[in-house]
Amino acid sequence: MKKSLLVAFCIIVVFAITGCNSQSTAPNTFNVLFETSIGNIELTLNRSWAPVGVDHFYDLIQANYYDQNAFFRVIQSPRPFVAQWGIAADPDISAKWNFTINDDPVVGNSNTIGTISYAAEMNSNNYACCRTTQLFINFGDNSFLDSMGFVPFGYVKSGLDVAMKFYSGYGEQPDQTLIYSEGNSYLQENFPLLDYLTSATIINDK
Ligand SMILES: *[C@@H]1O[C@H](CO)[C@@H](O)[C@H](O)[C@H]1NC(C)=O
Ligand SMILES: *[C@@H]1O[C@H](CO)[C@@H](O)[C@H](O)[C@H]1NC(C)=O
Repeated sequence: MKKSLLVAFCIIVVFAITGCNSQSTAPNTFNVLFETSIGNIELTLNRSWAPVGVDHFYDLIQANYYDQNAFFRVIQSPRPFVAQWGIAADPDISAKWNFTINDDPVVGNSNTIGTISYAAEMNSNNYACCRTTQLFINFGDNSFLDSMGFVPFGYVKSGLDVAMKFYSGYGEQPDQTLIYSEGNSYLQENFPLLDYLTSATIINDK
């Protein structure tokens, strides 16, 4: 009796802590439409490439987390590298989703042009860890990232030409800490030419 009460109590506590960000199981593959400030991009996500990452992305899309996110790190020089985004427009929303997800194992998909991976921190072994919400589209063959633990979880199905035109003139200048703390007001004031993800929508579940 006492034991079952304890179990019930634990279940309630776990729900209370994780309830707001409960993890879905995404469809095996699905497409997402990104409407951006300069045109549409369609992505295909593939759960077999990175189930933890795809499930988390699926939740983030449904929570509208990425709506109005800036493509704040667009690197075209010295060669086309990445477009990165994933810090919420509103600092309260970034803070709510500031928790790490487990790593996905490397299963042989490569960071080739048009694939999408999570940005990550590097651990003491110089290996990617601690993914949260930030993502990037590869603008070239970045397969050197594969052995560092960056696991692609989808690819641009159409509209890579749109992504390649995102404003890249600010390079590495936008300060991520300030985007986290001040949100889009910091970016609009200091980097007015950035392009934005207007809305992200799941367009077919299979
Ligand atoms: C998903 O990945 C698996 C394994 O690489 C592959 O067989 C399948 O064709 C992929 N599906 C899509 C829609 O990309
Ligand atoms: C996210 O959480 C970690 C600790 O869990 C903290 O060190 C970091 O400053 C937080 N970042 C933001 C942007 O809130």
